Amino acid sequence: MAAHAPKGLFISFEGIDGCGKSTQSRLLAEKFPDALRTREPGGSPGAEEIRTLVLTGDPDRWSAETELLLFTAARRDHLEKTIQPALNAGRTVICDRFADSTRVYQGATRGDLRATVDTLHATMIGREPDLTFIIDMDPAVALARGLARGSGEDRFEDMGLGFQETLRHGFLALAKSNPERCVLIDGNRDQAAIAAEITAHATDRMAVV
Ligand code: TYD
Repeated sequence: MAAHAPKGLFISFEGIDGCGKSTQSRLLAEKFPDALRTREPGGSPGAEEIRTLVLTGDPDRWSAETELLLFTAARRDHLEKTIQPALNAGRTVICDRFADSTRVYQGATRGDLRATVDTLHATMIGREPDLTFIIDMDPAVALARGLARGSGEDRFEDMGLGFQETLRHGFLALAKSNPERCVLIDGNRDQAAIAAEITAHATDRMAVV
């Protein structure tokens, strides 16, 4: 039987490319049919247009600074048009990636943009998820899986294994410094075991909202 969500909870999924978070967010959404499942970059018509700009084309197409502005613009639109209205209506929102991806992908990989990321977030977004699942995985396995999908949206996968290893450390550091909302999940296991652990955490958190 589907679990009942008494009040809107904002849940995000994070991790390196190919870590399995999209599968896990889908499985969680199946357990909570009233929840809204959405994704970043994207999740509103305007933000989906920006998605194409940032995920396709040459890896050097944008500087880290320009990327940061594009991702933030997409997030602002997504928050205004999709996420906040759903939370206001009492719905749980399950989002594939949110601001933690920007902190790690743009803030901690190419030069140190983290302070700028934090300033822009505070000015333009100002909202954190209530609960964040960070799926941790061996970067070599995840990268092979991500590229095998052949989605055509591989600008970040194309930056290579060293980049994915840096990302992994960024996500581990975020989990450690935000223990009140982040739950680190071992993604090197079968899907059903991972899904059961995630559902248990989400159900617990909903019970206290
Ligand atoms: P996603 O569609 O989740 O790809 P995947 O399923 O391969 O993980 O995310 C697309 C890419 O966008 C991913 O490589 C991470 C990147 N990204 C950023 O660099 N910054 C951001 O703020 C977000 C939301 C995503």
